Amino acid sequence: MAGQCNGNAADHFKLPEIKFTKLFINGEFVDSISGKTFETIDPRNGEVVARIAAGDKEDVELAIKAAREAFDHGKWPRMSGFERGRIMIKFADLIDQNAEELAALDCMNGGKLFTFSKHGEIPEGANTLRYYAGAADKIHGETLKMSRALHGYTLREPIGVVGVIIPWNFPTTMFFLKVSPALAAGCTIIIKPAEQTPLSALYYAHLAKLAGIPDGVLNVITGFGHTAGAAISSHMDIDKVSFTGSTEVGRLVMQASASSNLKPVSLELGGKSPLLIFNDADVDTAVDLALFAIFFNKGEICVAGSRVFVQEGIYDEFVKKAAEKAKSWVVGDPFDPHVQQGPQVDKKQFEKILKYIEYGKSEGATLLTGGKPCGEKGYFIEPTIFTDVKEDMKIVQDEIFGPVMSLMKFKTVEEAIEKANNTRYGLAAGIVTKDLNLANTLSRSIRAGMIWINCYIAFDRDCPYGGYKMSGFGRDSGLQALEQYLQTKAVVTPLHNSPWL
Ligand code: NAI
Ligand code: MG
Repeated sequence: MAGQCNGNAADHFKLPEIKFTKLFINGEFVDSISGKTFETIDPRNGEVVARIAAGDKEDVELAIKAAREAFDHGKWPRMSGFERGRIMIKFADLIDQNAEELAALDCMNGGKLFTFSKHGEIPEGANTLRYYAGAADKIHGETLKMSRALHGYTLREPIGVVGVIIPWNFPTTMFFLKVSPALAAGCTIIIKPAEQTPLSALYYAHLAKLAGIPDGVLNVITGFGHTAGAAISSHMDIDKVSFTGSTEVGRLVMQASASSNLKPVSLELGGKSPLLIFNDADVDTAVDLALFAIFFNKGEICVAGSRVFVQEGIYDEFVKKAAEKAKSWVVGDPFDPHVQQGPQVDKKQFEKILKYIEYGKSEGATLLTGGKPCGEKGYFIEPTIFTDVKEDMKIVQDEIFGPVMSLMKFKTVEEAIEKANNTRYGLAAGIVTKDLNLANTLSRSIRAGMIWINCYIAFDRDCPYGGYKMSGFGRDSGLQALEQYLQTKAVVTPLHNSPWL
């Protein structure tokens, strides 16, 4: 039986057989050159799910050769955007047809809720492909009105071979947020999924081939960050790197670019996002929103609302209700549809979160609820809320990436702004109030890339999203993301008979 707190184990769920465990290079599944593999784990019980090929520098080298050839001489960047879009839509349809199996892979690998994956993350991945498929034939430059007798125009060209390095918390979302605009632009790709969650990425490689994406256009290298990841970010033949993960590794990716070919990088990094709840809010609704903001995906989400600030008029009522509701939050096997929170992704993350809970206690915060691991097996942690939290405590400064809320009080609007911005991060913020003038005014004062008013984690593929400050730069989602995979070339010619020298 999987570890559980108050949820049921879903022993009846039949897990799919693991079909793809090798690297995907130039349209073929191949072993790593070294022959090395690594174990991928089911966080519900710590058991090994499969052994996966461990790609390293020499495998990355082969993948880059294939991607380079496919970009420099292949048909993908040269076919019409319309044709690329048609193939991407076929790829999306194949994902929908296999949604259940794909969802099971992400959940047995990442401890994610099966129902959410099957009806949310997986179909949304397919829809992201469709969104950018629709943009693929609408990429064009401008005609320039030049000051002399010159005719000028710009071409929007694919940036080239793109390296993509993604984390484990949303294996499918991350894959398609990066791969879809890159494909639409006409780029070729080497993607390294996180070592914790390699399964769905390999399956997507298989579906891409079935859909008709030419060999070499999409290569998947499974393996570790310091080997395969570092080989991608430091390579001279990769034209751009798109990274999502920790601030620490984001810095390494940028350094690797600086000391190799100065490839542009986009970094979507950590966060410590504030949720501001004002006196006029409906307390029950605000509590539900606050719990969702931090416990969704077991707190393993970069935009997690981990710092909750409640105005003093409703603070006591909020604390009481938040404690009650957190206690009834259902933790258990993520294949059970009644469960709200599955296990943390792995032992390392589990231990990191518990260590932060200890910091919170030893620095003098009050543990309102939770704070312990739960279940006999696996990496489950109780939904945890701290009160009496001071802003200089480690639990408020650092990204914990787990189900741990820090609850604080404020009096005035000015104080709310100051507290919201008192962080080195700037990914997202939430505002709960009936006063939309206040919410819109506050939105301009908070330094974060995404503001949610009376909602939270409300993503949409048409909505650009990314960080201010140390949460990184560059935008995923929306048409803005496409820009990251394109570059502009200007072409100038004199008008007929006009002297230009
Ligand atoms: P990480 O940043 O080490 O891993 C993310 C990706 O980067 C993985 O694919 C990994 O293999 C790769 N990577 C690691 N070292 C690399 C290197 N030297 N060069 C190139 N690629 C490399 O994140 P990790 O260690 O899994 O989690 C640590 C913390 O990072 C979490 O507790 C959380 O605070 C934060 N994090 C934030 C995420 C976000 O969505 N912004 C996602 C994952 C983690
Ligand atoms: Mg790491």
